[in-house]
Amino acid sequence: MELVSERLVLRPASESDLDFYVEMRNRPEILAHPDQEPKPRSLVDRQLRGWIDRWQQHGFGTWTVFDRESDERQGRVELDPMGAGWAGISPGEIEVGLIVHPTYWNRGIATEAAGLVAVDCFTRAGLIRLVALTTSDNKASLRTLEKLGMRRRGESQHVSNATTYEVFELARPAPRP
Ligand SMILES: CC(C)(COP(=O)(O)OP(=O)(O)OC[C@H]1O[C@@H](n2cnc3c(N)ncnc32)[C@H](O)[C@@H]1OP(=O)(O)O)[C@@H](O)C(=O)NCCC(=O)NCCS
Repeated sequence: MELVSERLVLRPASESDLDFYVEMRNRPEILAHPDQEPKPRSLVDRQLRGWIDRWQQHGFGTWTVFDRESDERQGRVELDPMGAGWAGISPGEIEVGLIVHPTYWNRGIATEAAGLVAVDCFTRAGLIRLVALTTSDNKASLRTLEKLGMRRRGESQHVSNATTYEVFELARPAPRP
């Protein structure tokens, strides 16, 4: 399920991505965000296996973002059912999650990669809506969601956690007449 744009190739996450995910996930810039604890390799490995399995279960999942020219890994875009416990969000709603390696921030990579995934999920995978969650202090994320055309829907909290999240959504575009 490879997705290609002018600059990027998105490939379903695979075991060969583990070193990249361990390094990116433990970067100080990533750990500076709320609720982000350092993650040992064993935990990232377990998470990666879950991402790989999700492709079999749902027909969508987690892509690793590569630069088309250099083949360097630059980030991740993930589609994941929300699951239970979120105020005002059904467990079956699909969340788009984005992370770009800090080395490559502010070059339009998240917007370009998530745009490819949105088109794919509304066409091939037949989804009707995506949601995204972020916190009000995460200005880069808020701007990225705005550039993707996502609309603010309200706020939510998970039962297990006191953090308040801003909830955004993107609906499948209506078919052209
Ligand atoms: C959010 C994130 C994925 C964005 O990745 P990216 O590839 O840098 O995104 P883009 O370059 O496509 O867009 C970033 C936008 O935010 C803007 N931005 C960055 N920092 C900002 C700040 N402090 N205040 C306001 N805008 C800011 C950039 O200028 C850019 O907007 P522009 O194109 O209008 O100039 C990246 O910052 C990241 O991985 N953050 C940590 C994980 C995270 O928060 N994920 C989001 C969960 S939804």
